[in-house]
Amino acid sequence: MRYAVGKNGVNVMSIEHHLKWVAANENACIDRLVDWLRIPSISTDPAFKDHCRTAANWANDQLNALGLHSKVVETHHEGGAGHPIVLAHSVPAADYKGPHVLFYGHYDVQPVDPVELWDSPPFEPVIRDARSGEEGGRRIVARGAVDDKGQVMSFIEAMRAWKELTGHPTGGAAFTILLEGEEESGSVSLGNFVNDHKKILSKTDVCLISDTGMLGRGKPAITYGVRGLAYTQVTLHASNQDLHSGLWGGRCPNPITELTRVLAQLHDKKRRVTIPGFYNDVMPLTKTERANWKALKFDHKKALKGIGLPPAADIGEAGFTALEREWGRPTAEINGIWGGYIGEGAKTVIPSHASAKVSFRLVANQDPAKVTKAFFKWCKDHTPPGCRWEFLDHHGGFGVTVPIDSPYLTAATKAIHRASGKKASLIKSGGSIPVAGMLKSKLGIDTIFMGFGLSDDRVHSPNEKFEIDCYTLGIKSHIAFIGELTGG
Ligand code: BES
Ligand code: MN
Ligand code: MN
Repeated sequence: MRYAVGKNGVNVMSIEHHLKWVAANENACIDRLVDWLRIPSISTDPAFKDHCRTAANWANDQLNALGLHSKVVETHHEGGAGHPIVLAHSVPAADYKGPHVLFYGHYDVQPVDPVELWDSPPFEPVIRDARSGEEGGRRIVARGAVDDKGQVMSFIEAMRAWKELTGHPTGGAAFTILLEGEEESGSVSLGNFVNDHKKILSKTDVCLISDTGMLGRGKPAITYGVRGLAYTQVTLHASNQDLHSGLWGGRCPNPITELTRVLAQLHDKKRRVTIPGFYNDVMPLTKTERANWKALKFDHKKALKGIGLPPAADIGEAGFTALEREWGRPTAEINGIWGGYIGEGAKTVIPSHASAKVSFRLVANQDPAKVTKAFFKWCKDHTPPGCRWEFLDHHGGFGVTVPIDSPYLTAATKAIHRASGKKASLIKSGGSIPVAGMLKSKLGIDTIFMGFGLSDDRVHSPNEKFEIDCYTLGIKSHIAFIGELTGG
């Protein structure tokens, strides 16, 4: 064991010694996470509003107890008040010279439906081993386990380790911590929050987010890019009343038929998006990037098998591999579609209207507002005879790609190596995290995505889980990341 005094004057032992804290405290780390997971902080459903505040208060209490200065801040957006944000900061050591890091996470979770598909209630966390047929090891099953409470806790527990071992939760490093409660509903109040707190936030040098995944089990990774998103809803109106389908069918528009006819034209035969100009701002993949991704030897066939699909299901935009389609190409998806009678039995009806939720994943310089506008215009240009559209713009955000040669990314790579003995792969993700684009465009701040999820974690689905090995690797990596900042 190496004992030393850190550059910042905080009395530190070796990082290796700090890492041992994790094994000794594993059960307590799990218990605390379980406590947080019990709070049903579903941000998109107004019925869970008070629970969101409870989850924010819970995190605020944890941070204050660790000796950070934390408070719960109210937020607002066009439509009124938003869910609160937890904002905290450490008091850096007087001689701390390293970067000021902004840790971002979200305490809100996705809705649980279809709730009947959960093996245990989503907000009554269960710790269990893998069952036969399941890969991996011991896990925590609950909504929010990996997305994102478990990953946020992996950072909070790392600060607890530093606090218990050195007396300082960040080892003397300068941290600002921002925990949002609206990530899963589009971060609609975050833009205002960033504008209102520009002074504080622009003091930070880089953002650190733990809300992504690894390349695979035992294959840690750093994500250097996420996609943007434009999320819309369209309703096609026809008659001013529901109609008898025998009397009216065949002599006026059926909005469900017409809507599906229009939406079926969103992709051409090569599965490219047909909206004019859609690909205008898309940066082509470079040879190097394609070669690097190929070298990751990602087994897409196996991934398809994991979701119950045969190799033949490997479909998408022609000319690109599965990883290229996920990480480097934009897509259009219909996320929901409804209209007419969906109750028990049969009802012979032609409804007055039909609706769909349609979203676009964006890359590089694609502007969500521009894409949404182009999609609505495309719908108008395809208006079925006698029908009319109603449009709703839910939310959007820019994608980001961060430089892979930054000192922060090097620090994260070193930290993961210290924690796992492995070299982190550089990956991208097809998912979206709106804050990253906002920080880049509003403040010029880059983000390091150091995440510990697995592709079979059932994110956003029933039986979401976070494996204990991933949780502890997260805690260790964050301990070591703090070590990189403080020279410990
Ligand atoms: N943590 C996810 C995004 C993610 C998951 C990135 C796995 C990489 C790997 C995040 O919470 C999320 O679900 N984002 C939403 C954003 C949207 C609601 C604005 C998404 O991607 O759909
Ligand atoms: Mn998330
Ligand atoms: Mn999510």
